[in-house]
Amino acid sequence: MTMSRILDGRGAAKQIRAEIASEVAAMRAAGIEPPCLAAVLVGDNPASSIYVSNKVKACTQAGIIPREIRLPSTTTQMELLALVRELSRSGDVDGILVQMPLPAGIDPRAIIAAIDPARDVDGFHPINVGRLWSGEEGLVPCTPLGILEMLDSAEIEIEGAEAVIIGRSDIVGKPTAALLLRKHATVTLCHSRTRDLAGVAARADILVAAIGRAAFVTRDFIKPGATVIDVGINQVVDVAVARGLFGDEPGRLEEVRTKGYTLVGDVHPRDAAERSGAWTPVPGGVGPLTVALLLRNTVKAAKARRGSPGRRGPGA
Ligand code: GUN
Repeated sequence: MTMSRILDGRGAAKQIRAEIASEVAAMRAAGIEPPCLAAVLVGDNPASSIYVSNKVKACTQAGIIPREIRLPSTTTQMELLALVRELSRSGDVDGILVQMPLPAGIDPRAIIAAIDPARDVDGFHPINVGRLWSGEEGLVPCTPLGILEMLDSAEIEIEGAEAVIIGRSDIVGKPTAALLLRKHATVTLCHSRTRDLAGVAARADILVAAIGRAAFVTRDFIKPGATVIDVGINQVVDVAVARGLFGDEPGRLEEVRTKGYTLVGDVHPRDAAERSGAWTPVPGGVGPLTVALLLRNTVKAAKARRGSPGRRGPGA
């Protein structure tokens, strides 16, 4: 068995969050208004609720002012549109995040289109998507930024590498393809209708899994020595299934018994450990970096809106 490196997202995220905190402290010390992030959650999806709480907590720790807005699942599209438009006009909101998915009956595209692109810290607005693909300065989605940050901190060479992404979502797959392309990788974007998915994946020097299926990526998808980035967060509730995935890894079976579940990514953890050169664990891989990059995007948006002389920001 080759020795595979575990890429620690928690450590990398901690470092970024400390950098953001000192940037915000410097803004305050200079008499500049600190950044403010509005985080909107509609409905009571338990995972979304945890994500929003984590984002709000991370803001507070970094000195960013959170404005947490929780709305009932009965909220109409008109009501949410009105809120987003108000936040987009507000003098003291720098970043706006509407947690996805939205309840059925609300069109996410209509909501995203109503966000001021200069405050679109998720990078979901068509203006920011266009800027990303055309190589212009703009706000870029947080998870893809986290993936690039992970590769950078692990000193994985991107230029000229074969990068294969499994999953073509607007939040992860597509923007990650754009970023890797910008860094001169040869990019293949796979999806549910890709023929011989394992065969295509096995060409990758850098393999990104973002499909939302527990342990879908197994050893035959992984070229020996490849870097494997696992974006999935899936719950495993069955002790026997957990044993198959984690073997004797301490704490996992115990977690299923006590909490009712343990988390697994889109990559089979034992296969990744055995075949890859480096891989991101779940939890503790890309996830923590996503939150850190949201903070960075918020500071970037705030600084651009404060209008430092001679510099035009993402929304300018
Ligand atoms: N749902 C899953 N990931 C994200 C994200 O990065 N931003 C928002 N707003 N919703 C999400």
